[in-house]
Amino acid sequence: MHKFEKLWLIIGTGSLVLFLGILGISAVHAGHTPAASGIETIHPDHVREDSRFSEPGLYESDSDAYDYDLYMVASAFMYEPNDIEIPEGSRVNIQVATTDVIHGFQVAGTNINMMVEPGLISTYEADFNNTGEYLILCNEYCGVGHAEMTSKITVVP
Ligand code: CUA
Repeated sequence: MHKFEKLWLIIGTGSLVLFLGILGISAVHAGHTPAASGIETIHPDHVREDSRFSEPGLYESDSDAYDYDLYMVASAFMYEPNDIEIPEGSRVNIQVATTDVIHGFQVAGTNINMMVEPGLISTYEADFNNTGEYLILCNEYCGVGHAEMTSKITVVP
């Protein structure tokens, strides 16, 4: 083997090892990095053990900032609960957690649209000022049942 070929082989292998090393280090590091401030973490396996998500639904809020907290669980391929009634004029803190993969949380006909990522509680503040039925749909491809992953909000007078 030519001297330079050997040198380049060593440099090539060396940088590959270094690169994989960096990937490994950042992967390990990411696993222990707390989420950005204000975003609460939750392990997907423990979502249903959390009192907020063991019985998902609409609850009067303890906070002065909201009338209600809406807790929802996303899983392949449904949203729980699948039927929610919200009184007209309510300010709601929507909080969604997934038990498995990434889902999308969109409320048709509104601005409400967010990703629901494993490990995080996704939140969205929303005012429900117009009565009617609103379809909740998953807009992030999550598997064979993706298209059937829906729920419904009814804003009542
Ligand atoms: Cu859940 Cu697509």
